[in-house]
Amino acid sequence: MNASSVPYTAELAVFAANATLAAIPSTFLTLLPFFILDTASAMLAGVVQPVYQSAVDAVGITYGQGSGETIHLAIDGTASSLSGAMLLNGIAAGDFEFEHVVSNAHPASAMFPALLSVASAYHKTGEELLVAMAVGYELATRIGAASTTEVETERGFHNPGLNGDLATAAAVGHLMGLESNKIASAMGLAASSSAGLLAFINTGAMTKRLHPARAGQLGAEAAFLAHAGVDGPQDILENPDGFLHAFSPNPEPTLLIEGLGSNWTGENMVLKLAPVHAYAQVFVYAVNSYRSSANRAWNAADIQNVTIYSGPGVLQLSHRIVHPDTLVSAQYSVPFGIAASLTIDLRDPLMFNDSLLVNPATQSISGAMQFVQISDDPNFVGGFLAMKVSGQNVNITADEYPGIPGSIGFVNAVEDKYEQVIKALDIAPQGAALRAKIASVGALGDVRELLSDLVSAGSAAARRFNSSGI
Ligand SMILES: *[C@@H]1O[C@H](CO)[C@@H](O)[C@H](O)[C@H]1NC(C)=O
Ligand SMILES: *[C@@H]1O[C@H](CO)[C@@H](O)[C@H](O)[C@H]1NC(C)=O
Ligand SMILES: *[C@@H]1O[C@H](CO)[C@@H](O)[C@H](O)[C@H]1NC(C)=O
Ligand SMILES: *[C@@H]1O[C@H](CO)[C@@H](O)[C@H](O)[C@H]1NC(C)=O
Ligand SMILES: *[C@@H]1O[C@H](CO)[C@@H](O)[C@H](O)[C@H]1NC(C)=O
Repeated sequence: MNASSVPYTAELAVFAANATLAAIPSTFLTLLPFFILDTASAMLAGVVQPVYQSAVDAVGITYGQGSGETIHLAIDGTASSLSGAMLLNGIAAGDFEFEHVVSNAHPASAMFPALLSVASAYHKTGEELLVAMAVGYELATRIGAASTTEVETERGFHNPGLNGDLATAAAVGHLMGLESNKIASAMGLAASSSAGLLAFINTGAMTKRLHPARAGQLGAEAAFLAHAGVDGPQDILENPDGFLHAFSPNPEPTLLIEGLGSNWTGENMVLKLAPVHAYAQVFVYAVNSYRSSANRAWNAADIQNVTIYSGPGVLQLSHRIVHPDTLVSAQYSVPFGIAASLTIDLRDPLMFNDSLLVNPATQSISGAMQFVQISDDPNFVGGFLAMKVSGQNVNITADEYPGIPGSIGFVNAVEDKYEQVIKALDIAPQGAALRAKIASVGALGDVRELLSDLVSAGSAAARRFNSSGI
């Protein structure tokens, strides 16, 4: 099929404009508050990261503090303009590798924080937030899938920094009641801000922390620009000089609209239960379970000969950064993530911090880790881990992960993760209030109440970690 003969962008824009609560499948509607809770976990852990504090300093200069009706709060309580608050909230959600994902889309960090900021600013209801959120998840996952992973492997762009802009433009466009041609126009404007280069992989630089945040911020701005009469190209996805042309060598445009409205692909988010790369999750979960199941403990210095038996994704050389020297690289590295879980108890996510980079046991286990491929299936991300502990053979099977969509343990895993974060941050009262607010989000008369509880929890966490530092 000739890509440019199908009005993909217009069809997505019509879908976004016309979305209603009743149209969202009950399975997805039930999951949405849990997605918010999971994003709250990521944002609360993210607000105490050093990169967030640096961003606060810069935003104070570049976006100001806002004034009167235009004061908007970021999660740590920083007062800024709407755009500054969207940027900071997006950084909190994406700066710790802790938000749910599907392979090419991170709507939790690249869409939701901006949407939440706008919904709060305009006193939208909880129901209005949920419908716009579903729109954003749907567009991010569909554009991500249609773009394919070759956006990254061939072209060198970071996927969430691309699809997040268009998804946020559509979600905010829906929230603000834009008509479909204005939403298409907003997507056209947003696509010209789609960006994100992979040069963090070989440098460990912090650009990765900014990509989702910028996508949300600029996508939301595009919706306001379109609303105000700035026209974008309304066919940006399929335009011969457009988004898929520029970013994707072998796009699959039919995925943009296949089953649109009946099969909601945004439902299929994969949880990150530890702040490590997606490909290390199943192994880290297995190590954590093994450690807690029989109360097994070991001295990391006694571990030798760790071998990972798994599939091509886990074994990918691009993730084999064995001696990372920044937290970004450490979180991108599959061997280091697994080595970290063998060294410290990663059920407390804040244990993954800069001190690990100079932990001799973690570095040594990571550096000596061996890999054996036992499957050709790119989706096979489990397997087993064999090692010697004080000379004794230990074999840990990595065959379950409750963070997979449809898993019976999914909702419990979201709740447990949240409780771990609240405990690690020592903000039990604020955490409980926020959790209750999120559980009843659909009944909220004003989303500002939700943001306000998030800020109470986030500012308490930021204060607690401000003096000690991570
Ligand atoms: C729904 O979409 C997903 C993602 O594109 C696909 O894997 C799945 O097969 C689709 N399901 C149906 C019932 O069409
Ligand atoms: C275990 O590691 C040591 C070096 O640390 C190496 O000499 C030995 O051959 C390894 N044993 C196995 C079974 O891989
Ligand atoms: C950083 O992680 C180490 C373990 O890797 C832990 O001992 C320390 O308490 C953590 N620091 C903070 C501030 O959480
Ligand atoms: C580890 O256990 C798995 C089963 O979970 C088994 O297939 C594998 O052979 C074992 N590997 C070693 C090295 O003992
Ligand atoms: C952190 O501490 C600095 C100086 O001690 C202060 O200016 C800043 O407001 C504090 N930030 C938070 C979030 O408490």
